[in-house]
Amino acid sequence: MKLFLDTAHLADIETANGWGILQGITTNPSLAAKEGLEFHDLIRAITDVVAGPVSAEVVADNRDEMVAQGQVLAKIADNVVVKVPMSREGVAAGARLVGMGIPINVTLVFSTAQAILAATIGATFVSPFLGRIDDVGNDGLSLLAEIVETYAAQGYDTEVLAASLRHSQHVVQSARIGADAATMPFAVMDRLFDHPLTDIGNERFNKDWQAYQQALADRRKK
Ligand code: G3P
Repeated sequence: MKLFLDTAHLADIETANGWGILQGITTNPSLAAKEGLEFHDLIRAITDVVAGPVSAEVVADNRDEMVAQGQVLAKIADNVVVKVPMSREGVAAGARLVGMGIPINVTLVFSTAQAILAATIGATFVSPFLGRIDDVGNDGLSLLAEIVETYAAQGYDTEVLAASLRHSQHVVQSARIGADAATMPFAVMDRLFDHPLTDIGNERFNKDWQAYQQALADRRKK
């Protein structure tokens, strides 16, 4: 399962990229709005840092405008993936973009029926929003499992991108279920590193190493 960051914040993207684990980026209009940069400049700056797919979303209420926006976004860099919303207009726009050879990510997916539509138009990614499903009292991971099972049964090529992840267990269980990729906020990726026994172990190894070096130095002095 590939690990993506769900952010448009360049400092966080650079930090995660420095860890050597970052395989892609997803953004959305809400995330872009926080950064205060012109949208195309922001996407260009992200693609300058990240080699993997960078999802950039179109915002319009009709397919023609979505297609026009998507064509402009796709020209920013080879690794741009155009995000289209799950709606009749979004799917129609997505189908046209795919026909032009532009990779798409169908976002705001909350059901397996919607995921089937995304695969049918040849989307590169489908993004079920696990956390937002949990937020309304349903089970996001169950939906993810149903989509992964359905895609396997049908042999669809579309990659399942688990999105709207809130914590480490969302990431772990998405991997166990067989998601192709998972996108998460920086704080969630950061916490994947942590375990209290790792901290205790590192502290003990460091202390023992320092005592060992001190003992060798004292012996040399004698
Ligand atoms: O970007 C898509 C999705 O991951 C949004 O997540 O946290 O706003 O529910 P969230």
